[in-house]
Amino acid sequence: MTRPARVAVIYYSATGNVHRLAHALAEGAETEGADVRLRHVEEFASEMLISQNQYWGRHRAEVEDEPVATLDDLDWADGVAFGTPTRFGNVAAQLKQFMDQAGRLWQEGKLADRVGTAFTASMTAHGGQESTILSLNNTLYHWGMVILPLGYTVSEVFAAGGNPYGTSYTSGKTVDGPDTKTLAVARYQGQRLARYAAVIAAARGEDAFRVRRPRPESFHAAALGVSDDAT
Ligand SMILES: Cc1cc2nc3c(=O)[nH]c(=O)nc-3n(C[C@H](O)[C@H](O)[C@H](O)COP(=O)(O)O)c2cc1C
Repeated sequence: MTRPARVAVIYYSATGNVHRLAHALAEGAETEGADVRLRHVEEFASEMLISQNQYWGRHRAEVEDEPVATLDDLDWADGVAFGTPTRFGNVAAQLKQFMDQAGRLWQEGKLADRVGTAFTASMTAHGGQESTILSLNNTLYHWGMVILPLGYTVSEVFAAGGNPYGTSYTSGKTVDGPDTKTLAVARYQGQRLARYAAVIAAARGEDAFRVRRPRPESFHAAALGVSDDAT
């Protein structure tokens, strides 16, 4: 019997917009019967900086009892959705820092043949939503993930900004979004991820991905942040 698909929704949010998108993706995956882990990544900005933005501080308090992402969540999942606010057209450092700790999992081939998808929020429509998702996806290529775009696979994508790369919320200066149309697409992206993750789960159950992976011996262990015994 095939086990339920495992979906991890891993995100960073400073002021709450991506946090609410992440919850909607997780809800969508759950409606498809997936086991879901919803995790925000660790904050490392200084308390001083956070205290200068009341919305940032308020959001830290909002998630303080929620679980923080660990590498085990990546190892566990058949499919992962990564969420980040746009930071100068790029991935937030907090999420990137989490991804950069995955050297050992990558080296062991444990991130390959999983499904990965991404979502974002930015202040303006042309402020870098696509570039943020594409930048994030660069890491997923290295990991050997199967990258799952939103596409125009449901008509609702058009009503929610029309971004086929992944759910993208244009927040303006607000922190009380996203709007219902964007949340609906985020839920759909979660459902879509869960469906593909279920295919991966079944294939893993049949050992379909048991291949001998090349050892990336040209990389020095220290450069990956892993100990020598992993090489
Ligand atoms: C340092 C910094 C850089 C940002 N860079 C961009 C940007 O390049 N383009 C944009 O449209 N918004 C940019 N924003 C705005 C955020 O992406 C936007 O407010 C987003 O909705 C925040 O999501 P959050 O509430 O989940 O933190 C930036 C915000 C900060 C603090």
